[in-house]
Amino acid sequence: MNIRLDNAPLTDEQLAQLNQLLQGMESWQVEWLSGYLSGFRAAQDAMQIPALSVPDASGESAVKLTILYGSQTGNTEDVAHLLAEKAQANGIECKVFDMADYKPKQLKSEDYLAVLSSTHGEGDPPDNALDLYEFLHGRKAPALKHLQYSVLALGDSSYEYFCQTGKDFDASLAALGATAIVPRVDCDVDYDDAAEGWINDLIEALSATTAISTTPTVNLPVQSTEKTVYDRKHPFPAEVLEKQVLSGRGSNKEVLHLELSLEGSGLQYQPGDALGVYAQNDPELVAGLIETLGFDAEAMVELDNQQQQLSDVLLHHREITLITRPLLEQWAELANSDALNDLVADKTALNEWLRGRDVMDLVQAYPIADLDASQFVGLLRKLPPRMYSIASSQAAVEDEVHITVAAVRYSAHERERTGVASTWLADRLTEDSKVPVYIDSNKNFKLPDNDDVPIIMIGPGTGVAPFRSFMQEREERGAKGRNWLFFGDQHFLTDFLYQVEWLAWRKSGLLTNLDVAFSRDQEEKIYVQHRLRQKSIDIWRWLQDGAHIYVCGDADNMAPDVNEALIDIICKEGGKNRDEANDYLRQLSREKRYQRDVY
Ligand SMILES: Cc1cc2nc3c(=O)[nH]c(=O)nc-3n(C[C@H](O)[C@H](O)[C@H](O)COP(=O)(O)O)c2cc1C
Repeated sequence: MNIRLDNAPLTDEQLAQLNQLLQGMESWQVEWLSGYLSGFRAAQDAMQIPALSVPDASGESAVKLTILYGSQTGNTEDVAHLLAEKAQANGIECKVFDMADYKPKQLKSEDYLAVLSSTHGEGDPPDNALDLYEFLHGRKAPALKHLQYSVLALGDSSYEYFCQTGKDFDASLAALGATAIVPRVDCDVDYDDAAEGWINDLIEALSATTAISTTPTVNLPVQSTEKTVYDRKHPFPAEVLEKQVLSGRGSNKEVLHLELSLEGSGLQYQPGDALGVYAQNDPELVAGLIETLGFDAEAMVELDNQQQQLSDVLLHHREITLITRPLLEQWAELANSDALNDLVADKTALNEWLRGRDVMDLVQAYPIADLDASQFVGLLRKLPPRMYSIASSQAAVEDEVHITVAAVRYSAHERERTGVASTWLADRLTEDSKVPVYIDSNKNFKLPDNDDVPIIMIGPGTGVAPFRSFMQEREERGAKGRNWLFFGDQHFLTDFLYQVEWLAWRKSGLLTNLDVAFSRDQEEKIYVQHRLRQKSIDIWRWLQDGAHIYVCGDADNMAPDVNEALIDIICKEGGKNRDEANDYLRQLSREKRYQRDVY
């Protein structure tokens, strides 16, 4: 089929080239290309989406919406762009800003504002939202009585401070006198439907505020801005090509290297992106839960308007290893138990009780009389995908994607517990199993565009995974920038992940510096932050040379300890006090020279 568009804004030559390209393509490739083009456009427009102005009677555009997003790993950013697309299609002029690039003083001149933010740490704002967050909560925050706004919060209901940053933005805007156009929506890990509902409500409300109802409405489907055929909602079944145990015999850990095939998927990823994996729960845990509840495994229950077998639903579709706050609250209502009500009311005791416990513990400790299977399933949240930092570069491995997986196994409250995805991948994945995957792009963990820029990578344990991808990419690109890796784990002999590759890169000169910290190979514990302090002069020098610093891995201890070490280094070598060193690090973060992917 030839395209014949007499008024297409293309030259005859361009039209002929386009026809030639399209004719040679399979339908899935065409679909991928259309997604690629809109992703390409969204990337070009990331800072400012050219407005599709709809003049009102005065010749002015009717509604001007400013969209601000606070996002660490890109989910909220995708939703912000989706809002922009939909708003424009509905005749609303809008601009999208990364919160870090938005001047807070501009707030005074906004009329319509959409604030989208995720929550990180323990209820903290994502890095790019910090400045705006502090401004709105500080003494310089202006009165915003004229402002109409709405907040979309992204989070995870298994965290104590669910969607806290979104809640805080909402409260601070309200406190400054702004009026909510539509109420805030708090989204859990499966945010697509809730986010789409909020977008539609907001657009409807904005449209109603002005005379833009004559504008033709285009209903765009909710999807990520980087539209590929396979995405979060439609994962690609990836074949397992290789499964290898990285940790040596005698290690306290079990770490796997997994290679999956993306052949035929059209999926593209960049170093720093993550792989979303839809895993299965442990069949023994599912069986035990069904037995404890006295249900029939083959009973049919309703899920998404379909009748499905209970055991299948619990195996594939529902979270059973985490007790989320909404589940707990609903359980407390149904259980009618004074003991559970007391526990829910006592935050400290509750947090203590929740540690290491799962749905089976809740069922056993606080049984509910007359609970039926459908009701039970209705109380559980969707089984969310698990994210793994990608450990390969497509420039090097083409149709493959590699991940590094630490099998999570521990004993708590007299029962052996396992991590859902890690033990599914480690124990139950057979040669011909397919792993449903998608690419979770992370714009905040990216190599510098300039290949001459030096990079410092701090990635103990499985945190080293993305740095293997960085090195493969820099090798393929022939990048001249210096590369320095800080790696740490328990023992040199058993836990030096990808040792052969690091040493080969060290030898070839690609890896300019390598510092390792094996915590249990000597009396005193040595961690990466100790190695950083030991190399403080060189680190400061690299920073002066424009180095980018990357930290990946444990969010609870490692990331704060490394942050502290960096502050100490900046104080000591840069002659700054703590506040100045903090500002220095904050500025690096704004310039995307200090990027963290911690979990
Ligand atoms: C290290 C870490 C800490 C998190 N802390 C919270 C939290 O305290 N409260 C919450 O609701 N969600 C928390 N989340 C979940 C994120 O908000 C959620 O994954 C969100 O979709 C991320 O959106 P983003 O990609 O735009 O940053 C946390 C996620 C990570 C990785």
